[in-house]
Amino acid sequence: MALEIKKLSNLMGAEATGVDLCKPISSTEAAKLNDALHENIVLCIRNQKLDGPRFVEACKVFGNLMRQVNEELCDPDLPELGNVTSGDVDRHDTKARVVRGTSWHSDHSFTEKPPSASILYAVKLPSRGGNTSFCNLRAAYNALPDEKKKQLQGLKARHQFRCSRAPNHIFIKLKNEADRIGAYIFPHPLVRQHLPTGEKTLYLNPQRMEDIIGLERKDSDALLDELVAHSESPAFHWDHQWQAGDMLVWDNRCSMHHANDDWPVNEERFLYKCIVEGEVPV
Ligand SMILES: [Fe+2]
Repeated sequence: MALEIKKLSNLMGAEATGVDLCKPISSTEAAKLNDALHENIVLCIRNQKLDGPRFVEACKVFGNLMRQVNEELCDPDLPELGNVTSGDVDRHDTKARVVRGTSWHSDHSFTEKPPSASILYAVKLPSRGGNTSFCNLRAAYNALPDEKKKQLQGLKARHQFRCSRAPNHIFIKLKNEADRIGAYIFPHPLVRQHLPTGEKTLYLNPQRMEDIIGLERKDSDALLDELVAHSESPAFHWDHQWQAGDMLVWDNRCSMHHANDDWPVNEERFLYKCIVEGEVPV
């Protein structure tokens, strides 16, 4: 079977079939997968059969992997391997069931070099629900009026772990080495260039953007609210509906995503996660 790429919508998303990432692949195949990711922003590689170590190896097709940013959430023997699990609970007080990432965000934007891509692999899926939703920030940028594009030129937002504008409670109680991420604050441009394609894109993270440097707080809040509301238009959204064997890769530089907490509460959902090294956004 030859590697084939098929678009899943006009907005974003493509699927790859005819490739087995348990085995080494050719540089041509690796380039084809990366090109499909950069063009379509989300790439689903179907029918994979991976355990944790094989998943980590497979992810290296998309670049060097980072250690998981929060070390409480990764495999102690394999620091690149994280997980997303229905077994998560509130670590503060209540010990209630928690689903991470249910509001729009871009992974780890509060770091100096946020991951270029994130990758999930479905180990255990519920019988229904649990889609992952995506927002195409490249399309959102292109749809802005020229005046607005001009206004955004050169503006930077401060992204920080502890963000007063975050729409929901952040459940992870930081301890030990993870304490350091609580102090992270990095300014990133509101409009960045997507390195592989050269295209401009909005770069937003409503969970971590505190303010815009150089603006009065009320003007900063108003502009951030406006950009978030613009990107929250369904015209820029696409949902990935998980199938067994899916390995899902997305480009954090030009998209946001969120989880959907809508599967039966008594059913298990477990996915492996890796993140790929990125660059300082410019
Ligand atoms: Fe995420």
